Amino acid sequence: MPKYRNSLNVDPDDKDPRISRRSFLALMGVGACLVGAGHMFGASILGFLYPNAMKVPPSVFSIGRPEEVLSKDGKIFDPKQKVFVETNAGKVRVQTAVCTHLGCTVNLAETGYACPCHGSTYDRYGRVTGGPAPSDLVFFKVFRGASGDLLVDKAKSSLDWKSAWYTPTT
Ligand code: FES
Repeated sequence: MPKYRNSLNVDPDDKDPRISRRSFLALMGVGACLVGAGHMFGASILGFLYPNAMKVPPSVFSIGRPEEVLSKDGKIFDPKQKVFVETNAGKVRVQTAVCTHLGCTVNLAETGYACPCHGSTYDRYGRVTGGPAPSDLVFFKVFRGASGDLLVDKAKSSLDWKSAWYTPTT
């Protein structure tokens, strides 16, 4: 017959207030199981409250309301998303600002774009004109989301600078 019979292997008659190594490890095991179960329960509750159908893919981001974005023509750099948002006569297109060589952020230049890292240059459409960059700068798909905002999907890209324009309809 074992010396102690409770689950934590603790002698109930023991007057020593210190906890044994075995009991400590048993308590840690029980604690770890409870924490794990809590995480699983919490994750399932969050999954129920925010189902996948409501999630916006991480590749999609908003550039704002059409009336704001199209209020003036030009090309604006978005440092957070590393894209150039270009507007012209009610149309918008979005182009990456990430150099295709090693991923530095390109700058606007008189003739198009210039990469400060290793000297790659692109024309105003993003086509490589010099330096080590292996390919052109892509355009991302622009569309209007359910909220009315103009959204950009970085997962959908194209090199066709003519068809990259998006004209929001009211
Ligand atoms: S990262 Fe742009 S030229 Fe190298």
